[in-house]
Amino acid sequence: MNTTPTQFPVGARILYVDDDTFMLNAFRRMVRLSGYEVVTFTSPLEALNEIRESSFDVICSDYDYRLPDMTGLDFLTEVHRIAPEVPRILITAHHDFEVAVDAFHVGISRLLPKPWKRETVLGALADAVRTVRLFRENIRLTALLEQHADALAQLNRSLDQKVSERTDQVISALITCLDYRDEETMAHSKRVSLMTRAIAERMGLPEQELLDIEWGALLHDVGKIGVPDRILLKPGKLTPEEWLIMRRHATIGHHMLSRLDFLQNAAKVVGDHHERFDGSGYPRGKSYMDIYIGARIFAVADTFDAITSDRPYRSAQSDESAIAEIERVCGTQLDPICVAAFMTITEETWTTIRDEARTWAADHAAPAEALPMGRAGLLSAV
Ligand SMILES: [Fe+2]
Ligand SMILES: [Fe+2]
Repeated sequence: MNTTPTQFPVGARILYVDDDTFMLNAFRRMVRLSGYEVVTFTSPLEALNEIRESSFDVICSDYDYRLPDMTGLDFLTEVHRIAPEVPRILITAHHDFEVAVDAFHVGISRLLPKPWKRETVLGALADAVRTVRLFRENIRLTALLEQHADALAQLNRSLDQKVSERTDQVISALITCLDYRDEETMAHSKRVSLMTRAIAERMGLPEQELLDIEWGALLHDVGKIGVPDRILLKPGKLTPEEWLIMRRHATIGHHMLSRLDFLQNAAKVVGDHHERFDGSGYPRGKSYMDIYIGARIFAVADTFDAITSDRPYRSAQSDESAIAEIERVCGTQLDPICVAAFMTITEETWTTIRDEARTWAADHAAPAEALPMGRAGLLSAV
């Protein structure tokens, strides 16, 4: 019966190397009685082969082999390379300081004297087995945690993806609604939204606000959905009264979008998109910093795009003339800070934006047969 006070962890595997078969047998008997599986070797090289093949909970070695191939310290050093988590115990008949220093340098878990005391060896083995099991359990739990964290991150990514897809779909539906009613092309809306974003990026706005502003610019005229056909589709000039109604589109658009939580900033762009820096715009005659930053940026992009694209009543002018006009109205209609950011953007960027908008508009355009009378055909002006 086992009288050891130490409660042994069950089923541990211990390996012991000693060139003295008498010691090996004594060790084997003592440890087996405690319920452990023991594997012993007189050759450290054979022991290393076994360690490469199967897993052990503790590896013990005699300090001095009377064998030429390696010392006990060499052996335990090599063990660490193969199985770094396994505790190593050095057993030695040398009771000197040098052995302890050597053992310390190769990171031995425990140094035991020879001849040994049964309780000391079994206690050291039990401690080492608990240590290695805790260590392995820790590794297992960490891996499990990482696995769960990965799964959670994956789930979040797919949720974010879904939210972003739904948002795109809502924006797309709104822009398509507008396309059924407005004479301005979808390509214009897309160009202005990308140009607004490009300027906003130069101004260092945070990522979410860049997106909000881009959406707002894309939907800037969405309020035209609420303008009566007789005014919106009127072929001739509008009367002053009709202009007043037409101008309501900014307020209508703001009202529409502000009902959606995720479009609050976009709603501000829409509400302020006809305001002017000097206060001469509409609907509220706001000025300077009272105009939402996204709308002040939009105003620069819209001016640039209006001049550089074909309109039914005139053909497109060069980027240079648009830039000259922007410089002329900088500080009156347009915010000089936004104009300065605009000026840093290269011609290649504008070309890329125009190409991207053309492709996007072609993908999103309403079918010609679905357009109201008189609107079909205008789409070709993209
Ligand atoms: Fe516009
Ligand atoms: Fe407008």
